[in-house]
Amino acid sequence: MIRYAADVVDILPSQLPGFFEGWPNPPSSETHLRLLQSSSHVVIALADSHQVVGFVTAISDGVLSAYVPFLEVLPSHRGRGIGQELIRRVLVQLRDIYSINLHCDPELRSFYEHLGMRSLGGMAIRNYENQSGAHAV
Ligand SMILES: CC(C)(COP(=O)(O)OP(=O)(O)OC[C@H]1O[C@@H](n2cnc3c(N)ncnc32)[C@H](O)[C@@H]1OP(=O)(O)O)[C@@H](O)C(=O)NCCC(=O)NCCS
Repeated sequence: MIRYAADVVDILPSQLPGFFEGWPNPPSSETHLRLLQSSSHVVIALADSHQVVGFVTAISDGVLSAYVPFLEVLPSHRGRGIGQELIRRVLVQLRDIYSINLHCDPELRSFYEHLGMRSLGGMAIRNYENQSGAHAV
């Protein structure tokens, strides 16, 4: 059974293993928790074991715009509708916001289109030396 929560007040770093799949220099669980705490909006999916098995974050000015930087479900829990549910829930949190944006690989466009989003152009910089977030203040 999966439970969803819209805050991380009771979450410990030890409940956050296994995320950032494929990242050469992933953030630690402590940094991951800081990322969740610092986001203006968050939804986590919790398994019976109290492990976090999925999360989505958003950063918003609270007026007109929001960006969804992270969505991830642990490989062991994919294909069960958790990713879809996380996005649905964060979009409900952002329902009063005009412009909601995210970047994704082309193969994920249909995933987001099913959730009411449409494809627009985007630009980005990646400072790979900062990928672990270890030096962020
Ligand atoms: C993308 C991701 C969050 C999807 O999570 P999930 O819990 O497996 O997704 P769901 O079970 O809710 O899938 C919903 C639908 O999207 C489809 N889908 C899921 N992942 C997909 C993928 N990588 N490519 C294409 N379609 C995908 C599913 O087939 C499903 O379709 P259906 O309802 O017709 O069966 C997950 O694969 C993941 O964490 N990937 C690595 C991180 C990532 O790419 N994040 C997105 C950053 S933009």
